[in-house]
Amino acid sequence: MNIGFSELVDLESKNVLVIVANDTGSNFVKTKLKSILKLDEVALENILEGCFDLSYAKIRNFNVILNGKIREILIVGAGKKDLSSRASIEKLGGYIFSNIKSENANLCISNCLELTGLELTAAYLASGILLKNWTFDKHKTSKTSPKVLSVECETNCVNSNKNIFGHMEAIQEGVFLTRELVSEPANIMDPDRLLEEAKNLKALGVKVDFLSKRDMEKIGMNAFLGVAKGSDNPAYLVTMEYKSDKTKDAIALVGKGLTFDSGGLCLKPSKGMADMKGDMAGAAVVIGVLKSLALQKANVNVVGVIGIVENMISGKAQKPGDIVVAMSGKTIEVDNTDAEGRLVLADALWYTKEKYNPKIVIDFATLTGAIQVALGHEFAGIFSNSDKLFQELEKAGNCVGEKLWRLPLHPSYEEDIKSEVADIRNVGSGRGAGSITAALFLKHFIDPNVEWAHIDIAATEWDTKARALSQKGATGFGVRLLDEFVAQHCLSC
Ligand code: BES
Ligand code: ZN
Ligand code: ZN
Repeated sequence: MNIGFSELVDLESKNVLVIVANDTGSNFVKTKLKSILKLDEVALENILEGCFDLSYAKIRNFNVILNGKIREILIVGAGKKDLSSRASIEKLGGYIFSNIKSENANLCISNCLELTGLELTAAYLASGILLKNWTFDKHKTSKTSPKVLSVECETNCVNSNKNIFGHMEAIQEGVFLTRELVSEPANIMDPDRLLEEAKNLKALGVKVDFLSKRDMEKIGMNAFLGVAKGSDNPAYLVTMEYKSDKTKDAIALVGKGLTFDSGGLCLKPSKGMADMKGDMAGAAVVIGVLKSLALQKANVNVVGVIGIVENMISGKAQKPGDIVVAMSGKTIEVDNTDAEGRLVLADALWYTKEKYNPKIVIDFATLTGAIQVALGHEFAGIFSNSDKLFQELEKAGNCVGEKLWRLPLHPSYEEDIKSEVADIRNVGSGRGAGSITAALFLKHFIDPNVEWAHIDIAATEWDTKARALSQKGATGFGVRLLDEFVAQHCLSC
């Protein structure tokens, strides 16, 4: 899709004209329509049939004939000016995309929001349209033709919009990569392929290294390796270093990369098991963020650590009741082989601290089905030992429309993961709070001096319904959030 910004758009080649205005912008809409359609007041009132609603996301379409050709016109309400933000305007871009009725649309978008001080509205609208346009049809032999071919944004602030849009495109590249990695089935996106995807970042200046099973054995990553035992495929711990300003402390991002989670011997029911191809979404988010930062040549230091493995069954698979010694030296009773993500992360988090000694660690994981029970698909669950880190992440999330809700990392739940035979057990007793006990389990592998946040994306990485900025399926949740967090955090340090 071609995206352009210009002060005056040549309407001749456009078949869809979009006018975006907030609730005080009805004059702007009328003036625009009059100049486009060359109508007098009476003819215009006839078309508009009185008043029109410019409250948020109210969209009205109609067709007109202009120079002998049918054009579709969308009048799009942006609601109260004070409530407009990047997140609300990007979403509006998504709604515009969904509401276009024409095929092979070449869009012209005018907006009056920049007159009210929201100078970057054009770029945000274009970003929303692009995010919503993404689909996963690479395995279909006959493709549907694209709905929108081009978007030309009319703006008086061409340079600032072009500039910010350049960054947004880099972020989108990261989002699209994450969505693609999550969407690919497990026979394609297996451990070797996911490692290759991480290695692709080398071309952008990211240093990529990995530990094989053998290397992990040598340093005692037995919690991780226990999960790998049932699979014939390899397992990898991959590190990705993007360092452009070595004077700054690195932020560490850790991701769960289960390319498939069958549950192991505690086998999952077949209904829904196919969704477990997406159990590497945490790792995919980390790869996506590093891609977007590297593309932007962001002046930051970020290291990514992902644990890549499959949770399978075989004669060699780990068994319920097994006891493993984690890299940290803690012993774990593996009561349920399906609570494997925390076992992989236990060693990945410990390794991250040992190798990089970061001040900030953020992990992303499709860790628990319980997070969907608690929060549905709207908010991801966040757990943190630092109020400040939580607040910064929450703010970044609100800024891009990826919402986070903090749940308690409270010691009163510790009792639930006590083991009679080892230091801790990998599941609670089944009396609820499954996402909390999972987070508390991870906390055992975190240095208390490190600011740490765990984000459970099990219900936000994938949606069975279309969302404002994504179609059914992979959302890429987390990439835009982390990109914004890194940008804001590094500005202030
Ligand atoms: N990968 C799953 C969590 C998950 C569930 C992700 C649904 C995406 C959608 C995780 O490894 C798991 O199986 N968790 C168990 C934990 C239980 C055994 C304590 C769960 O949530 O049922
Ligand atoms: Zn599992
Ligand atoms: Zn899992």
